[in-house]
Amino acid sequence: MSAQKKLKFDQLSGWKRAQVALGYVLPYFKPYTKYLVLVAFLSVLSNAFEPSLAVSVKFFFKYIFQEKIYWLASVAPLGLILLFLLRESTTFLYEYNREKLSLRVIQDLQVAVYDHFMHLSLDHFDRMDTGEMMSRTVRDVSNMQSTVPLIIDLGKHLVKFIALAGVCVSMQPALAGITFLVFPLTAYPVVQIGARMKKYTKRGLAQAAKINVHMKETYSGAMVVKAFAQEEEEVKRYWDKMKKMLKIQFKYARAKALQGPVTNLIAILGVAFVFGLACKWAIAGKISQDNFMAFFTSLGLMIVPLRDLAKIQGKIQTAYGAIERVIETLEKEATVKEDPNAIELDGFENEIRYENVYFRYEDEWVLKGFNMTAKKGELVALVGPSGAGKTTVVNLLPRFYEVSKGRITIDGIDIRKIKIKSLRKHIGIVTQETFLFNDTVENNIKYGSPEKTREEVIEAAKAANAHDFIMKLPNGYDTVIGERGVRLSGGERQRIAIARALIKNPPILLLDEATSSLDTESEREVQKALDNLMKNRTTIAIAHRLSTIRNADKIIVISDGEIVEQGTHEELISCFGLYRKLYNMQFLIEEESKESAQFQAQNPASKKD
Ligand SMILES: Nc1ncnc2c1ncn2[C@@H]1O[C@H](COP(=O)(O)OP(=O)(O)O)[C@@H](O)[C@H]1O
Ligand SMILES: [Mg+2]
Repeated sequence: MSAQKKLKFDQLSGWKRAQVALGYVLPYFKPYTKYLVLVAFLSVLSNAFEPSLAVSVKFFFKYIFQEKIYWLASVAPLGLILLFLLRESTTFLYEYNREKLSLRVIQDLQVAVYDHFMHLSLDHFDRMDTGEMMSRTVRDVSNMQSTVPLIIDLGKHLVKFIALAGVCVSMQPALAGITFLVFPLTAYPVVQIGARMKKYTKRGLAQAAKINVHMKETYSGAMVVKAFAQEEEEVKRYWDKMKKMLKIQFKYARAKALQGPVTNLIAILGVAFVFGLACKWAIAGKISQDNFMAFFTSLGLMIVPLRDLAKIQGKIQTAYGAIERVIETLEKEATVKEDPNAIELDGFENEIRYENVYFRYEDEWVLKGFNMTAKKGELVALVGPSGAGKTTVVNLLPRFYEVSKGRITIDGIDIRKIKIKSLRKHIGIVTQETFLFNDTVENNIKYGSPEKTREEVIEAAKAANAHDFIMKLPNGYDTVIGERGVRLSGGERQRIAIARALIKNPPILLLDEATSSLDTESEREVQKALDNLMKNRTTIAIAHRLSTIRNADKIIVISDGEIVEQGTHEELISCFGLYRKLYNMQFLIEEESKESAQFQAQNPASKKD
């Protein structure tokens, strides 16, 4: 693309911004062009009433009062009924189709926002709160919901206004000319008030998102809130946020309420002026009685679409505030992008290489010139103090984050040249915390591979050492687990995660402290499952317990984003470095805990204190 940096939406101003906004929203109407045409047609039909009424006033006066044509007395009521029939039936069709159109468009937009969020890179999810994202997906978009039909109404009111203006012109062109010089004055306050409504809409949505974040955090963190007895404080904080919201809403309500009256007042000033003039002209005989009546009927009827137009202008500003937030959302770009010439990775044959890799999340370098090679079939272990950058090393391989400098290759191919999906298909990951969906055990295990059969799921579960405990669940493989289902222990969750990885059957495996949150007993169970998983695969493992990686082909010791030692367990133990220190430290702690466990087993009374 061009070297010139794309101007961000919120850096644009005025007209350009409106153009860009339209550019974003109009494509969503495109699939429904047919509906749009239908709605426009119905709008014209349903609008034929008022101008017809205004015109018929003229004839009514002329033929009834002046020429006294008798049969009109029986035809006119019929005409009125027909006109109304047309008006009400087309109004129904118009409103129904207009609503359908806007519901479709809003839904498409909501899905587009969700789709967009889903495809953003992980750094985005680190930065933006889930509550905020939910608010943006649901609230921002649906805030436009009530306004889309009104925007469609815009055409309807314009048609009505123009038709009535046409009647005015045909009755007394000069008077009409003067009237239309006066009317534009009404636009000024309308625009002013509209701008305010937009401002308050944007502020309101931002505040709504904050409230959402607060709610989400305190609901899901209820245990911490209670542990620190912060219920009242949280309610108070919630109150404060709500009060702020109310203030914004009040300001918005005031602007909205002002809009109609201000427009009407200014319009009536104009009408009064024109009325005085018309009276003079009528007395002077410059305007006939029937034209006079029709003119003012028209003018009177024009106030309604004019006021509606003013209201819509306000509504459009409201929607515009929401659209701006939606656009800001849609403009967020994924930091990890697919190369258009990316290729499929066809199996893993040879080696994974990290070549002089630099990486940073924000300003500070987390990895500084990291080099590593993992040959096919090897177990490479990463060891180092917490915060050293081990997780980062592992997360760069599936491109959860993008290397800043240097490169990572698989079989000599830069991973940025591989299709992201294809790359991730080759990699299995088991981390410390396993996320389980609120779904059945079976669906959790075959997540991402829905084509797998129950037999394959069971086979994977058996290899993951999970089959036995699954069979003890109330509905076996059909038991719902996760967020709101049956609670599993940490070890059980890990074994489900391992089954999930087994069924995916990837050649490369990343293990990030998969057993660190477990007690010794379940760790043993999980370790057995891991050993099955690692068979015939290439594994990069972050070991939290060093005893588990004693037989690794290579142990890489990282400190502060740099490699300080590497070699086999024996080699590293024999040189008195960081590894030996870490190993001894852990050995001592483990011995101590073993001793105290033994002590407690022998002296059960001491448990009670
Ligand atoms: N998502 C993130 N955003 C910003 N900084 C991060 C993020 N994840 C990790 N870090 C920082 O990067 C450094 C390395 O972290 P990490 O790779 O998780 O270390 P380890 O796994 O060895 O404990 C730490 O200083 C940590 O604070
Ligand atoms: Mg880590």
